[in-house]
Amino acid sequence: MEVFEQHESAIRGYSRVYPVVFDTAENARQTDINGKQYIDFFAGAGVLNYGHNNPRMKQAMIHYLQSNGVTHSLDMASRAKGEFIQAFVDTVLKPRGMTHKLQFMGPTGTNSVEAALKIARRSTGRAEVVAFTKGFHGMTLGSLAATANTYFRNAAGVELANVTHLPFGCEKLCMGCNMGCGPAALDALGARYADPSSSFKPPAAFLVETIQAEGGVNVASKAWLQKLAALAHKVGALLIVDDIQVGCGRTGTFFSFDELGINPDVVCLAKGIGGMGTPMALNLVKPEHDKHWSPGEHTGTFRGQNLSFVAGREALRYYENSDLMNQVKHNAVLIREALEPLEKTLPNVQVRGKGMIVGLDVGNTDLSKAIVADCFEKGLIVASCGTGGRVLKVIPPLTIPEPDLRQGLSILVKCTQAALATTQGNAA
Ligand SMILES: Cc1ncc(COP(=O)(O)O)c(C=O)c1O
Repeated sequence: MEVFEQHESAIRGYSRVYPVVFDTAENARQTDINGKQYIDFFAGAGVLNYGHNNPRMKQAMIHYLQSNGVTHSLDMASRAKGEFIQAFVDTVLKPRGMTHKLQFMGPTGTNSVEAALKIARRSTGRAEVVAFTKGFHGMTLGSLAATANTYFRNAAGVELANVTHLPFGCEKLCMGCNMGCGPAALDALGARYADPSSSFKPPAAFLVETIQAEGGVNVASKAWLQKLAALAHKVGALLIVDDIQVGCGRTGTFFSFDELGINPDVVCLAKGIGGMGTPMALNLVKPEHDKHWSPGEHTGTFRGQNLSFVAGREALRYYENSDLMNQVKHNAVLIREALEPLEKTLPNVQVRGKGMIVGLDVGNTDLSKAIVADCFEKGLIVASCGTGGRVLKVIPPLTIPEPDLRQGLSILVKCTQAALATTQGNAA
């Protein structure tokens, strides 16, 4: 680790939590330079939905490179990009009756959120955007203004303007949360927009995650999301769904909102959309809003990531039948069966989530840190999220083999029980 400690910026984060040098990786396992293997319940923060070095994607990329396929192309037309777009339209958009345009930008999630905010402001002529408590949307100034977490916001060094945060509509209130989350807050907001003496003006957009991943695995209720969509429609604001972490199959359907009865104006995708872990970001924009862009107005040198188009096209084959999504549903049951008994038997533990994103809220930052460290020692990579990092986030590759999933869950359960037993022992 010396080279990292001596020369890499103080900003490095994960290499402090997992202080080994990783070397190789295959599906849901990573191996360090000393040959120790780790089961991966983190999947690159939701990038590696199809596993490390997915063999189908790897082969497609190798073939593409060996045939001198264009690797970088700005936003020029390339064969790989054309094939990705066609497959996306045929596999994802058409079956849902979606007519959204595909907008590519610099290949990070934050960049897709920036573009979504710009088009909403352009399309409505309004500046203000409504985002939600505990929301996470990225680190560049526009998306950071929409990110709620003070730790990240403090790094901006300038005012983060033009975003208001309102209470999120959790289906299950987090332990100890008293922020007024739920549909009532939206009713009050709608009444304020309707009353010309309230001084409240409708925003350009409502920007929402259907499941707040970094925010602590908070699942929005269907009723709340539908109310939000109706309110957006009523006041002429865009509904932007940030599906960057929980889209691409994570919840058991391609989009996290597939079964929620909402029809977003803009959908932000990144992370898993590039399939193999190489970067890509993509916004789906309804044509009536897309027409407000002029050519190149939200440009970016790395819009033409052809290796990601090749791997991303392969990833879309998983949605030509229901095998992988059935596997996700099966794995989701295994995760629940392992973790829910902790909620029932231990005080101050809550389990939240959907599909293969599940949060184990242990209510305490030190405790979750201790569990992450103990899991890692025992060969499991798991990360924390939520307020103060008190929630353990289980997001393995969707393709994880069942024995790895069961082994990882067993490590997580044992480490959690041990950590909680120690705290109770100390308190007694
Ligand atoms: C929901 C959501 N939006 C946006 C982002 C930012 O993506 P990136 O780190 O690629 O900029 C993230 C990253 O974790 C995310 O989870």
